[in-house]
Amino acid sequence: MLYTEKVMDHFMNPRNVGEIENADGVGEVGNVKCGDIMRIYIKVEGDQIVDVKFKTFGCGSAIAASSVATELIMGKTIDEALALTNKQVIDELGGLPPVKVHCSVLAEQALKAAIYDYATKNALTFKGLEGYDPDEDHHDHDVVDIEF
Ligand code: FES
Repeated sequence: MLYTEKVMDHFMNPRNVGEIENADGVGEVGNVKCGDIMRIYIKVEGDQIVDVKFKTFGCGSAIAASSVATELIMGKTIDEALALTNKQVIDELGGLPPVKVHCSVLAEQALKAAIYDYATKNALTFKGLEGYDPDEDHHDHDVVDIEF
């Protein structure tokens, strides 16, 4: 089967869908090739992410990836969330087909963008954001070919 049961589960029943009113940070990224867009909202107390929600206008893998990513960082510290990689998201999903790897990259990028937004608004710096350029990061680095 192309997709694991976990991918199907998170696609059919995505966790943490929606938006957070008065979010402390919002990150939106898009993939230029497939046109999919992902937005992640975070609520922060102290250095902890106490709530996270997402909206994805994209494919099923992007929905599953963002669902799993929100689960992985819920209750974590900002530093822990910044350490999240798209590989961890893929592992958590039990794998993604190669042409869908970029969907997990989108989840990692949207989360980083949301934390960047939070950091900028509060004049905070985080080690994991050093050298981060929100405009740079929006381009897909990992996409080799996409088939529809
Ligand atoms: Fe573009 Fe999945 S995010 S095809």
